[in-house]
Amino acid sequence: MKNHKAQFITLEGVEGAGKSTQKQALCQLLDANGIRYIETREPGGTPYAEEIRALLLDSSDEIPQAKTELLLMFAARAQHLETKILPALERDLWVVCDRFTDATYAYQGGGRGLPGGWIQTLEKLVQDERVPDVTLFFDVPVEIGLTRAHRRGNLDRIESEDIEFFERVRRTYQQIATRDSGRVITLDATVDVELLTEEMTSRLMSRWGLKCRPG
Ligand code: TMP
Repeated sequence: MKNHKAQFITLEGVEGAGKSTQKQALCQLLDANGIRYIETREPGGTPYAEEIRALLLDSSDEIPQAKTELLLMFAARAQHLETKILPALERDLWVVCDRFTDATYAYQGGGRGLPGGWIQTLEKLVQDERVPDVTLFFDVPVEIGLTRAHRRGNLDRIESEDIEFFERVRRTYQQIATRDSGRVITLDATVDVELLTEEMTSRLMSRWGLKCRPG
């Protein structure tokens, strides 16, 4: 393997894009190549941030304002980044994180319509210049994704938004992917799981110069 600094990898996409399955496949690829890593997710990833996650995603009588939602996403992120992600990277562990700040641009910016400038300000405050090294964007038409998510059942508060909301989320992800094509790898998530895994694995193996395929 080429000499790589520990990579901060994020996975993004609308509901039902297949992130969880591909996250497992990604971890198998890292295992096969003897790379040490941690797995984590947002919102959440530490006990404190998981409590914020529960606040954010549980449905209760009082619906949070869009601004409240935005601030809580970054509150959870500040805790997660400082106490888990950065310490891992400093110890040379790779970080595999299910969602990160692109999700805030997509959901709170695109979906809820909050100004991108607010998100940029909070991003600067919480992250300074720190951004993921590689982001895997699993792109799927909203109807397909939502059908899969509904089949899985148990939709959380945000997952229960209407189709127009998710169309805006998807469009925002696509815009980010176009603008930041060096970091974001877009994968067509309409194909079979095996094919998607194959495509992701090949792209990452060539990007990182990995030699071993899982299995
Ligand atoms: P998950 O279902 O992929 O674990 O994500 C939890 C939900 O949180 C999902 O509906 C997307 C949403 N979310 C945001 O709205 N903004 C964010 O910044 C993040 C990280 C997640």
